[in-house]
Amino acid sequence: MNIAVVGTGYVGLVTGVALSDIGHNVTCIDIDIEKVKKMKRGESPIYEPGLEDIMKKNIEKGRLDFTKCYEDGLKNAQVAYIAVGTPEKEDGTADLRFIEAVAESIGQHAEHDIVVVTKSTVPVGTNDYIREIIQQNLFENMKVDVVSNPEFLREGSAVHDAFHGDRIVIGADTQSAADTIEQVNLPFGIPIYKTDIRSAEMIKYASNAFLATKISFVNEISNLCDALGANIEDVTAGMGMDARIGNKFLNAGIGYGGSCFPKDTSALVQLADQAGEPFELLRSVIKTNDKQKRLLVEKAKERFGSLQGKTVALLGLAFKPNTDDMREAPSITIAQELVLAGANVVGYDPIATENAKNVLPGAVTYATTAKEACQNADFAMILTEWDEIQAIQLDEYKSWLNEPILFDGRNCHNPTKAKQNGIEYHSIGRPTTQQQKQPATSPN
Ligand code: UDX
Repeated sequence: MNIAVVGTGYVGLVTGVALSDIGHNVTCIDIDIEKVKKMKRGESPIYEPGLEDIMKKNIEKGRLDFTKCYEDGLKNAQVAYIAVGTPEKEDGTADLRFIEAVAESIGQHAEHDIVVVTKSTVPVGTNDYIREIIQQNLFENMKVDVVSNPEFLREGSAVHDAFHGDRIVIGADTQSAADTIEQVNLPFGIPIYKTDIRSAEMIKYASNAFLATKISFVNEISNLCDALGANIEDVTAGMGMDARIGNKFLNAGIGYGGSCFPKDTSALVQLADQAGEPFELLRSVIKTNDKQKRLLVEKAKERFGSLQGKTVALLGLAFKPNTDDMREAPSITIAQELVLAGANVVGYDPIATENAKNVLPGAVTYATTAKEACQNADFAMILTEWDEIQAIQLDEYKSWLNEPILFDGRNCHNPTKAKQNGIEYHSIGRPTTQQQKQPATSPN
């Protein structure tokens, strides 16, 4: 099939590349000419493991191309994917500016019947609005079907997810549109779930909100474990054995970040308010996450009294491993709080440093290795569980840092081993090397 994909961010580019790899002829459209030139050479504008190899392979096979021009991209397309961003506005609602612009352009340039597929995460009801905009901009009367096909890929494993996802959701109002998009996706061999448009739009928000809830729930439990002397890892291992709960996505840490959870949870809260059905549970999930991002700094303040003049090494800055994405990364809040408290902050990340420079406070300095960041630091904080950072041995910290004090926001090390190695080790929801706090009241 001939397919156009509008927008070459994480979602658009991975979608386009994956669709070309299963045999479709794909043209990706993006307004950024420099980006288009780069992609034509087989260079990915984003860091995503495995993506460039598949890009290059399909460009060579003549199945994948890039253009700035809608006319070229849409000329033979039977299907057009919309994969542009829906950033968060000041009030928490989704900004649909880019969606509107793309819908207008598709309407203006469509020359034959077309199925328009929305990959972007959009508020429930938006696909009806997209259809309206396209129809208003058509020159001739042609058939335009709109399909919601939300994306569930995770950054850092987006290529794997594109080929091995748990499900493909297709929301359509006509059987023919649903069948067309099912045909497009059949070669992936992933289970397909077909529903109406609004339910498909809601599946995306509900899934992200549920996962965010799982993380905030576990983070709250971890704080209780800290207060009461239990161990969060044992607790989640025991919880996860219940098949109804499941053992995934139960890692306590310093809060979720990234391009999806923060934005989508806020958008759903706003959507619920507008619908007159306030979503208090989700509001609390967001509040807990904001609090969790401050936890490590609170722990450090409790330990040292004042952080004035202390030098801190931040290890890992990206919102999670295997990405250079700094959007909503907990490291932003942590660096801000540390700088505000008068600390000198030295950051290290295997690949996100350049992006970090744009969003962390100007006072932060950067090291090119974890060792360099730790040397002359009074303590270190692990913020992202990169393999490389997890692999640092405890005795290395001991030899690098001024004092062997480690705050681990991702529970990468074993507290007992840390104690044996003479490290003062603070982690999330696990007994510290210092002392276990006593329960507030005696157990019965
Ligand atoms: C997420 C969804 O997983 C994906 O389906 C959706 O399409 C986009 O949003 P992504 O943001 O790439 O994907 O990352 P994910 O791996 O889900 O992690 C999100 C955040 O949650 C990260 O900050 C991560 O550190 C945090 N997290 C995740 C935890 O704190 N604990 C966990 O157990 C899992």
